[in-house]
Amino acid sequence: MQTDHFGIFRNQDSDQLLKQAEVPEVAWRSPSNIALVKYWGKKAVQLPSNPSLSITLDKAFTVTRLKAFPSDGRPGISLINGASDHPFLPRLQKLYAWLATEIPFLKEINVEVTTENSFPHSTGIASSASGISAFTLCILSLATRPSSQQELPPSFFRAASFASRMGSGSACRSVYGGFTVWGMTADVAGSSDDEAVQLKNMVHPDFERLQDAILVVSSEPKSLGSSLGHSLMEKHPFAAGRFQQARQHLHLLLQALQSGDFGQLAVIAEAEALSLHALLMTSHESGLLLRPGTLEIISRIRQARRQGLAVFFSLDAGPTVHLLYPEKSLAQIEQFIRQDLLLYCENGKVIFDHCGKGPIQIKALPFNP
Ligand code: DP6
Repeated sequence: MQTDHFGIFRNQDSDQLLKQAEVPEVAWRSPSNIALVKYWGKKAVQLPSNPSLSITLDKAFTVTRLKAFPSDGRPGISLINGASDHPFLPRLQKLYAWLATEIPFLKEINVEVTTENSFPHSTGIASSASGISAFTLCILSLATRPSSQQELPPSFFRAASFASRMGSGSACRSVYGGFTVWGMTADVAGSSDDEAVQLKNMVHPDFERLQDAILVVSSEPKSLGSSLGHSLMEKHPFAAGRFQQARQHLHLLLQALQSGDFGQLAVIAEAEALSLHALLMTSHESGLLLRPGTLEIISRIRQARRQGLAVFFSLDAGPTVHLLYPEKSLAQIEQFIRQDLLLYCENGKVIFDHCGKGPIQIKALPFNP
């Protein structure tokens, strides 16, 4: 049976919302994430070809605010950061239109959006994951009539993950903190292709605050967007093998996470990162996103691990290296980065982040006694 994710939002109505003295306003801070098992390839309507697993970050986030006004006849988003031609507008408009089919009162209002990232552009941090999830959380908050000081229910976050997925697949994982899985797998109870789930009681305490130093090798804009990248998997000669590999990797990575086996975690996560780039390089429209500096950093990380340092890397679809390590090695890692890796980072740019607790609501609608 299909779950009706949006039933709880359908009793909001625009008159009720707009009759308040002040302009209704909501705001969320939502983090980005880095996948250790990659989502690369999709089917049907924004469903993943294989399950993926990610760490929700903490310091790399988007803060989004929404203000609601009566519709001027063209419902949807009127402005983003004061502009009616913001580059993010078409994507958010499309998501808004989809949400309005599920939550009809959205057809009777306009929203003004302000949105800001905590991290610079083109650094290899997924701004769509944080931006889309922050926007979706805001829309669903506008559709929620808070009646007490109670926390938002799990059904709120399930709907937010489901709807974020429609805007960007990886965004559905950012709705939860810690480690999350998106995509149905027998290895995780309750997992689904429709929405992400948080891994509970499946992560060894040593990994709960896994650290991520983001080494920015180049901030030139990417030559290949991820939507095109996903579509390249449709005719990819290695597609079937890849989807099977991702399932196997997820299985082994979950074992490593649960048992606290750092060595296994490192080997699997690195194989995933390199598989992503191998798939890109062998697509019919070949994408080569790694830079010489990326390869230097990778080989130095592997050398350091052979010498006993607890460290491994992950990559997104770009040249930036995510260097992952347990919290207890922070001092050694800082020294390693300074001595061996900084040289390969553009203007010495490194962003220190770690596994975080998930989105934070900054502003809610007033309580409705
Ligand atoms: C390489 O979520 O950006 O970062 O669903 O088309 O918006 P769309 O794609 P997107 O793809 C992310 C791809 C990846 C791996 C991952 O995050 O799992």
